[in-house]
Amino acid sequence: MTVTVTVVDHALVADSLAVVRDATTPNAEFRRHLERIGTVLLVEAARRLPTHEVEVATPITTTTGRRLSDPPVIVPILRAGLGFVGAAEALIPESPIGFVGVARNETTFEPTAYVDKLPTDLAGRRAIVVDPMLATGGSLIHVIDLLVAGGVAGPIAVVCALAAPEGIARLEAHCVDAGTDVEVYTASIDDRLNERAYIVPGLGDAGDRLFGTPRH
Ligand code: PRP
Ligand code: URA
Repeated sequence: MTVTVTVVDHALVADSLAVVRDATTPNAEFRRHLERIGTVLLVEAARRLPTHEVEVATPITTTTGRRLSDPPVIVPILRAGLGFVGAAEALIPESPIGFVGVARNETTFEPTAYVDKLPTDLAGRRAIVVDPMLATGGSLIHVIDLLVAGGVAGPIAVVCALAAPEGIARLEAHCVDAGTDVEVYTASIDDRLNERAYIVPGLGDAGDRLFGTPRH
């Protein structure tokens, strides 16, 4: 079972990443640019979703095309994952959206789950998990375990604006046991975590910056 990490090299992502990293960027601008990052990363994450051939009658003739076989379940990790939901809805409006709420304990950095509203018919479906930050990896691993227990089809795609090397390493170790392949799509693998398990250089607390708590 493998973890592949794709760092998406794109001018729009680079431009928006510089804006969301900037500590002086106001909440509204932060949201707008995070959503743009999410859009481009989601396009990459969806590149190889299963499709099937269909016949299409154009106004001129008939031809063949390809349609998505089964829209993937989109899984935002609350709260900050909500920052990518608009992008996912715009790109794949047919997708069901399942919510998982996870908060990090500020002392142990371990995840505390408080919401599980995943669709009940996960078996055999593809899933794309969206969360701007992959730090220690604890929150993501919790969600991957829920998806594997629900029987999702691999690989599980993960869209995150920033990833820490420590989180990727933990994910790699975990996926061997979890029995699933994971594809991570990110704008940057940053340098490291600091003593509070924040990503360095990072962008701060994604949830607070998205939702203005505290005000920036
Ligand atoms: C943030 C972020 C991730 C998590 C990443 O959420 O949105 O879910 O931290 O950290 P990890 O990889 O160490 O688990 P947070 O727990 O701060 O909750 P919030 O989105 O409600 O602010
Ligand atoms: N969660 C965040 O919001 N930011 C970090 O840097 C790490 C975890």
